[in-house]
Amino acid sequence: MAKKRLHIKTYGCQMNVYDSARMADVLAPLGYEATDVPDDADLVILNTCHIREKAAEKVYSEVGRLRLLKEEKARTGGRMLVAVGGCVAQAQGEEMMRRAPTIDLVFGPQAYQDLPDLLGRATRELMETGRSHVVAVDLAVDEKFDRLPEMAAAQGYSAFLTIQEGCDKFCSFCVVPYTRGAEYSRPVPDIIAEARRMVDQGTVEITLLGQNVNAWHGDDGTGAAAGLGELMRRLAEIDGLERIRYTTSHPRDVDADLIAAHRDVPKIMPFLHLPVQSGSDRILKAMNRRHNAARYHEIIASLRDARPDLALSSDFIVGYPGETDADFEATMDLVRQVGFASAYSFKYSPRPGTPAADLDEQVPEDVKSLRLAALQEELLRQQEAFNTATVGQILPVLLERDGRHPGQLVGRSPFMQAVSVDAGSAAGHLKGTIRNVEIAAVLSNSLRGRLVEPVNLVAAQ
Ligand code: 5AD
Ligand code: SF4
Repeated sequence: MAKKRLHIKTYGCQMNVYDSARMADVLAPLGYEATDVPDDADLVILNTCHIREKAAEKVYSEVGRLRLLKEEKARTGGRMLVAVGGCVAQAQGEEMMRRAPTIDLVFGPQAYQDLPDLLGRATRELMETGRSHVVAVDLAVDEKFDRLPEMAAAQGYSAFLTIQEGCDKFCSFCVVPYTRGAEYSRPVPDIIAEARRMVDQGTVEITLLGQNVNAWHGDDGTGAAAGLGELMRRLAEIDGLERIRYTTSHPRDVDADLIAAHRDVPKIMPFLHLPVQSGSDRILKAMNRRHNAARYHEIIASLRDARPDLALSSDFIVGYPGETDADFEATMDLVRQVGFASAYSFKYSPRPGTPAADLDEQVPEDVKSLRLAALQEELLRQQEAFNTATVGQILPVLLERDGRHPGQLVGRSPFMQAVSVDAGSAAGHLKGTIRNVEIAAVLSNSLRGRLVEPVNLVAAQ
């Protein structure tokens, strides 16, 4: 079979990273091999994100750049297909092709198992009419997982595994329920089988993914209902799987068993991303979040009780329509009370089709900017304090990849901190293992550490 070059550019969340890997799996039987650059690719896929306006706009600038490469390729008698997948594709569909005729194919997050067919159709249309208008934006999630091939390529020492997709929560600012569809949980046997395959191929750490990952529910094997806590207990039994993480959780779906799992299962890492969005009950209600600040504090207290070293991360939106200075202060109070190891914060971005986009009381851009700056200053201060507190500690670090300098390896602490160590000539042997590292210093985006075990090269070989 003739080899073809495939370039996938991934935007947005970790689920898109997982989806991109699965798209490559789907296309491998057609002879497509991944390439890091779009130049000269036979097929370019942009796997897009629609969560905020900025993220969505990036796609069109990239399509503009691809137009030149596509024209160049056509001049030399070749052909480059440009496909847009992911959440912008789902939200805008055919409209994308009207705005950017360079695009040959638009497909949503629940349609990529059909890529071979869709590409065949696009190619035929191109040959017959010189233009392709193939659009696939069906939203039935369960079909996708049933029809995806087994994961082909090794996913790396730390890998993502989607266990849940879609969202039924309908937070008033969010496009996800419209772009990813209704909540869907993959069955236990599929998840266990996929995790085992990953571990057989060298994966040491798995991050379970879902838009609402802790809304995952399944069958415990006896027909009784099981939740995420139970699923992680089952996954923890896999030999060779050393670390389990999950993201993104919703406070509403944190149940007692999930909290207990943090206490009982050492393989679950002591780091949790639990978005709160705002500290103001009035705004949380307007956002349709279905939890208030007090409930968030309660959950954090129970989790910390179960796992005292648990580090926390969150998402925040400032400038939601109607947010007053007092509402914003409530967010700052919550941040000061909880103490986060890291966090993401965003200015509210109106998304077409979501209820909040049509509200009258939009907050002016300059107010949003001031609030975001104040919030980020506090979050950064907390992050630095958290990192500084780990200096002098010995932490197990999963050494995932080469660093910038020869002999350097970079990995993650249990708390998701990036840590670099100098492994010298042992680097090749230590890559992919978890090692004790003494944290020596806080750098701008990472920590510097020192391997504390005597590294016995002969034993490592
Ligand atoms: N504007 C700004 N931020 C948003 N998010 C989701 N929708 C919007 C929006 N319309 C943020 C939320 C969510 C994260 C993934 O993105 O904080 O948790
Ligand atoms: Fe969006 Fe809310 Fe669903 Fe998260 S829970 S994906 S913020 S609608």
